[in-house]
Amino acid sequence: MTTNAELARRRAEAVPRGVGNALTVYADRAANAELWDVEGRRYIDFASGIAVLNTGHLHPRVQAAVAAQLARLSHACFQVTPYESYVALAERLNAIAPGPGPWKTIFFTTGAEAVENAVKIARHRTGRSGIVAFSGGFHGRTLGTLALTGKVQPYKAGFGPLLPDVYHVPYPMAFHGVEVADSLRAIERVFKADIAAERVAAIVIEPVLGEGGFYAAPPALLRALRDLCDRHGILLVADEIQSGFARTGRMFAIEHAGVAPDLLTLAKSLAGGVPLSAVTGRAGIMDSVPPGGLGGTYAGSPLACAAGLAVLDVIRDERLCERAERLGQVIATRLRALQARWPCIGEVRALGAMVAMEMVRERRADAPDAELTKALVQAAGRRGLVLLSCGVDGNVIRFLAPLTIPDAQLTEGLAILEAALEDVAPRPHG
Ligand SMILES: Cc1ncc(COP(=O)(O)O)c(C=O)c1O
Repeated sequence: MTTNAELARRRAEAVPRGVGNALTVYADRAANAELWDVEGRRYIDFASGIAVLNTGHLHPRVQAAVAAQLARLSHACFQVTPYESYVALAERLNAIAPGPGPWKTIFFTTGAEAVENAVKIARHRTGRSGIVAFSGGFHGRTLGTLALTGKVQPYKAGFGPLLPDVYHVPYPMAFHGVEVADSLRAIERVFKADIAAERVAAIVIEPVLGEGGFYAAPPALLRALRDLCDRHGILLVADEIQSGFARTGRMFAIEHAGVAPDLLTLAKSLAGGVPLSAVTGRAGIMDSVPPGGLGGTYAGSPLACAAGLAVLDVIRDERLCERAERLGQVIATRLRALQARWPCIGEVRALGAMVAMEMVRERRADAPDAELTKALVQAAGRRGLVLLSCGVDGNVIRFLAPLTIPDAQLTEGLAILEAALEDVAPRPHG
């Protein structure tokens, strides 16, 4: 039998260190919210491969749809001989896009590719080059998206020069004293000091900051951005790559604010583990690019589109938006009970099942505890729970269990979390 240690040794020889590993256990197989490593050890999965598995590992309906597709056609390239599943999935996404249509959808393979193409489409449509994005935002690691990603270490350092004409403004974080008015003032300052509003193609925002720490944008910010975009002819791009597909209790997080974006970038849970991403946008905007300007060899592969169609069926039939609300309440209630006892939990945040706790010293927002966060992830791993961190300061634990997780496994996972906290956190008062 292969061991985790043996694989770690081979990995160190064969794979560059630039791609990190949260845990050093090697996944062998998985089902819904459970995962087993190569040594046969079982884990509860609260990470979902970074937000990809809202419908769980290998949902039987997704697995069956991919298997059926694999028996008919695995690749043709939509640009060469198109196929129905691509069109059908575009129709389904257009029908659920947040806001009045008509909408159109184009598919790609990774999240970063979707964001890059949203920028291409926005630039082409507006004839402008400027992009406003948010500090702490994450939009990908490719050379194009790196400029939008709002965190230098470890993402941007050493890779420049990056795409020019990208400006960052603060994302509201009430816990750190940053309010909506601060973000809006910063945008006005950018328009005064750096680039005229008439040269800005798009404002790109995650309705819930993902890698940056699970801060939800207050609805007032999203409404104000919509208004600002309308006044200046700027396109509003909602990056729902991490927050989409029922995670926050709505199909898309921006729905909580009742705001309609011009373009949506989608990926991760869209296809339940098969690589697939999309840009969904207002038809007139999407059609501004002439034939040949957009695409990709594998973009919207038949296997991925079959998976995507099954995922949308599962979200609808298993009422995963409602389930996300309930899961979020259960997790947040448990975390708030822990927070009352443990001064290292500075804040618990939840929008639906997009839940996080921020680890600090002695309840102080200005004293992030990245070391404790790292130790907690490792302690949880040793006890059989896959946890993920995030946050600009690396001090946030995010909860991304499949929305299909059985109640008993959720309870089991939360108990492991508490035990792991006991292992590594400074003793609580009282
Ligand atoms: C909001 C957001 N946008 C874009 C990306 C990039 O996606 P990918 O890693 O598939 O390129 C991510 C990945 O974490 C993300 O969370």
